[in-house]
Amino acid sequence: MSNYHIKQFEEYFQVYRKSVRNPEQFWEEIAEEHFTWKKRWSNVLSYDFKKAEFKWFEDAKLNITENCIDRHLHTRGDKTALLFEPNNPNDEAEHITYKQLHERVCKFANVLKDKGIKKGDVVCIYLPMIPELAISVLACARIGAIHSVIFAGFSSTAVSSRVNDCNAKMVITSDGSYRGSKTIDLKGIVDEALNDTPGIESVLVVNRINSGVYMKEDRDVWIQPLLDDASAVCNAEIMDAEDPLFILYTSGSTGKPKGMVHTIGGYMVYTAYTFKNVFQYREDDIYWCTADIGWITGHSYIVYGPLANGATSVMFEGVPSYPDYGRFWDIVEKHKISQFYTAPTAIRALAKQGAEFVEKYDLSSLKVLGSVGEPINEEAWHWYDENVGKKKSPIVDTWWQTETGGIMITPIPFSTPTKPTYATLPFIGVQPALMDESGKELKGNQVEGRLCIKFPWPSMARTIWGNHQRYKDTYFSAYDNMYFTGDGALRDEVGYYRITGRVDDVIIVSGHNLGTAPIEDAINEHPAVSESAIVGFPHDVKGNALYGYVTLKDVGESRNHDNLRMEINQLITDRIGPIAKLDKIQFTEALPKTRSGKIMRRILRKIAANEVDQLGDTSTLLNPEVVQSIIDNVK
Ligand code: WTA
Repeated sequence: MSNYHIKQFEEYFQVYRKSVRNPEQFWEEIAEEHFTWKKRWSNVLSYDFKKAEFKWFEDAKLNITENCIDRHLHTRGDKTALLFEPNNPNDEAEHITYKQLHERVCKFANVLKDKGIKKGDVVCIYLPMIPELAISVLACARIGAIHSVIFAGFSSTAVSSRVNDCNAKMVITSDGSYRGSKTIDLKGIVDEALNDTPGIESVLVVNRINSGVYMKEDRDVWIQPLLDDASAVCNAEIMDAEDPLFILYTSGSTGKPKGMVHTIGGYMVYTAYTFKNVFQYREDDIYWCTADIGWITGHSYIVYGPLANGATSVMFEGVPSYPDYGRFWDIVEKHKISQFYTAPTAIRALAKQGAEFVEKYDLSSLKVLGSVGEPINEEAWHWYDENVGKKKSPIVDTWWQTETGGIMITPIPFSTPTKPTYATLPFIGVQPALMDESGKELKGNQVEGRLCIKFPWPSMARTIWGNHQRYKDTYFSAYDNMYFTGDGALRDEVGYYRITGRVDDVIIVSGHNLGTAPIEDAINEHPAVSESAIVGFPHDVKGNALYGYVTLKDVGESRNHDNLRMEINQLITDRIGPIAKLDKIQFTEALPKTRSGKIMRRILRKIAANEVDQLGDTSTLLNPEVVQSIIDNVK
C-alpha cells in the first residue's frame, strides 16, 4: 500500500514506525512511486555525522521543475498553479495555469541562458511577492542555476554582503514594490548594494510600479522585452540529486549570515510529502501560505511542495493591514481558501484589532489552519481556533527551520489530536531527541532539554555555502551523532513536543530570526558608541522585541539621547533592514561582565523582561555594581 497520503492517526503510527525502522527502504518507496526521475539512485542514503556529510538518492538524475510543472501538464494543464493576489484589492487577481507557468518558466529560463547564466552559477533574486519571483526561482532550477532569494525587506548592505558571499553573477529585481499604501524603491536599494560587488555581470529588472528607474548601461536590462522574444521551449537541465538547488541565508548567533545550501532530490521528496500530509491537500483545494518567498517557508510551502503535488498555491503581494485589517479574511472568502498557513505574529496583530474584521467574511471554505515561525502562545492559538477556524478546522503548529528544509514536528490534521502551544509529534521519518547540557539524552516523557535530531532526513541542509567547517561546528559539534537545532523543547506526558524557544543568541522577532551579533556590530559603528548588547524581551504582537543596552564612549555625552536612539536605529536599518530596529535603547555606564570579559546576557534579559527579582547570583561578575545601576536607570 502506498504510504504517500496518511489519513488516520493509527496509520500515522504504522507509517512512522516503518520510516524509522528502515528509513532507506521507506524513503526509496516514496521517492520511486511519486516522482519523476531520469535515472535511479545507486544508494538511498549515506551519511557521516562526524564529517557532517549527508547524501540522499546518490547518483539519481532529475530536474525538479519537471516534477513541479511538466508532469502535471497532461492531467492538470488548465488548473491554476499560482494564484496571484495583488497588493491593491481592486486590481484583478491573476490565475496562472500549469500550462502558462510552464511557458513562462521556459521563457524566463531562456532569458537567463542568453544572459550567460549556466548550470552551477548563482543568481540572487530580490523581488516582491509577484509571479516573477516564483517564476524566476523555477527558471533557475530549470537550467541548473542556484537561486539565492534575498527577502525584499533587507537593506542594501545586507544585499551586498549576500551577493558577495555567494559569488552571484546576476541579480533579478524590480523597479519597485507595493506594500500597502507605500511603494518601495527596490532598484535604488540594489544600485546601492551593487557598488561593491565585482562578481555581478547583469541585473534583470521587472517593471512592477512603472517608476522609470535609473538603468546602468551594460548591466541593467528590463526583462519584459527579452521575455517577449524568448522561445517557450527550454529542455530541463539534467541534474544530480545532490546538486545544489538553492542558497538561503539565515541568521547565526555570531558574525555574518549563513548561506544554507539545499540540494535537489531529498528536498523535493520531503517538501512534497510533508505538504501533502500536513495540509491534507486534495485536488480542488486552494492553498494559501502568507509567508514571503524570501524565507524558507515560501520556498518549501509556496513554491516547491505545493507545485510538486499539482496544487493551486496563492501568492499575496500585500500586507494584512491594507486596505484594512480584514484583508486576509477578504482573500480567504474571495478565493475560497481551503488551507491557510501563517505566523503567530500575524495572528496576534489581527487578534488585537478585534473580531469584527473576521466576522464580516465567509470563512466556511477553510479546512486546515497552519502556524509557523515561532512558538504560538495559548491566547493566539485559541483566537485562531475560535475566530478563524470556528473550532472546526484543526490547527497544525508546524516546527521546522531554514536548515531542516521541511516541516519536522507537526500534527497531521484530522488525525493527531491537537493541543494548544504544542507542535505535537515528529513527522514521518523524523527522530527527535532531547538532550541535557552534559550531553546526555533525556529519555522518557515529561522532560525538557535541547532539541536535536538523531537521524538524517532527506531535506536537511547539506552545508553552509563556502564554509563547511561552520556548518559542522554549528550543528554537529554540540552532541555526537546528531543535529542540534538551537531550540529548547519539552516532551509532555504523552510524548507531545512543545518548542520553548531559542537557546542561542538568535532572537525571533515577528517570526524573523535575528542574530544579536550583526545588530551589535551595526550599533558599534556609531562614533559615540563604545559597546552594546542586544537581548529579546516579550512583546504582545511581535513575540519578542529587541532591547539594546548601549554604553557611550564619552560618559558625559551631552547629545540628546533621543537623537542618539534615532541614529542608532537608522544605522541598523541601513545595515540590516527595518525588521532589526530596537524597541528600547538604554544607555548604561557599563555592561555586566564575567571575569573572563563576556557580557552576561542572562542578567540583561531578566532586566529587559522586568524580572529583576530573578537575577540569581551576580556576585561572580567582574562588576556586580553595574547591575544595580542599570536597574535604577530603568526606573
Ligand atoms: C522557530 C522557519 C516554535 C524555532 C520555518 C526555529 C518555531 C526557528 C516554530 C526557525 C513553531 C519555527 N513553534 N518555534 N511551530 N516554527 N520556530 O529558519 O526557533 O526562519 O529554530 O524557519 O523558528 O526559523 P526559520
